[in-house]
Amino acid sequence: MEQGTKTAIVTGGARGIGQAISRLLALSQYRVAIADLQEEEAQRLARELPGEHLGLRTDVTSFASVHSMVQRVLQEWGTIDLLVNCAGWTRIAPFQETDDAYWRRVIEINYLGVLNTTKAVLGPMMEQKGGCIINITSDAARVGSPGEAVYAGAKAAVVAFSKSLAREVVSHNIRVNCVSPGLIETPLVEELRENEKGKRLVEKMIKRIPMKRPGTPEEVALTVLFLASSAASYITGQVISVNGGMHMVD
Ligand SMILES: NC(=O)c1ccc[n+]([C@@H]2O[C@H](COP(=O)([O-])OP(=O)(O)OC[C@H]3O[C@@H](n4cnc5c(N)ncnc54)[C@H](O)[C@@H]3O)[C@@H](O)[C@H]2O)c1
Repeated sequence: MEQGTKTAIVTGGARGIGQAISRLLALSQYRVAIADLQEEEAQRLARELPGEHLGLRTDVTSFASVHSMVQRVLQEWGTIDLLVNCAGWTRIAPFQETDDAYWRRVIEINYLGVLNTTKAVLGPMMEQKGGCIINITSDAARVGSPGEAVYAGAKAAVVAFSKSLAREVVSHNIRVNCVSPGLIETPLVEELRENEKGKRLVEKMIKRIPMKRPGTPEEVALTVLFLASSAASYITGQVISVNGGMHMVD
């Protein structure tokens, strides 16, 4: 396929895993809308990448913000072939030490954000009779993770939502899948290391990984590219872990 003939939205696309996904899609056949709270970084990346891309300030927790981002993409490019929900956030703390403001923030970014973007793109995808949605969840959702109980719950909600939606929209030629990273070396993990509990958790996790190293954002991006491609045309409602063998889930 010719470069620039497909369009993608990547939330959280300015940094970490989302940035690697934006880069790889731009080098493949996609025009990429990098939808992130960090507007300057998103715009800088959009300018830096080869081809025609957009850096758009977007807060996934606000439907109005997401809706106007999607409208802008449609205005510029007319279609949305791929949505990658990658925006996410957590901090390490035992559940008993967290409060409802923290719970709400975690659920709003990690789960409601996915509902907002999905709602905004589904109409256009149905009209164009096809599309692909890839949600970045976490192995914490599949096997649990101490210090990340609320985040694990929000990411598990993303998995259950994705499977249900996959069944609902399959007749519209829309596939919905999840990519579930284990430990991936990104600024988020750097921030987790800033407190003692987080640092200990990260070190403990590395020891448990059969490959004895964290993954790279590029390794997650390659799995996203595979799921978005025609090589994955018979795959929907699935969760693929990218975790160096840390968890081996049926
Ligand atoms: N790094 C890991 O080990 C790991 C493991 C499992 C899952 N994940 C998931 O992968 C995804 C990316 O993680 P990362 O490590 O690259 O994180 P990161 O913090 O490095 O990057 C996250 C990006 O999301 C953006 N973002 C945050 N809140 C937003 C909002 N409300 N609206 C729009 N954008 C927002 C940030 O500005 C940032 O650019 C997240 O969903 C995370 O939960 C990461």
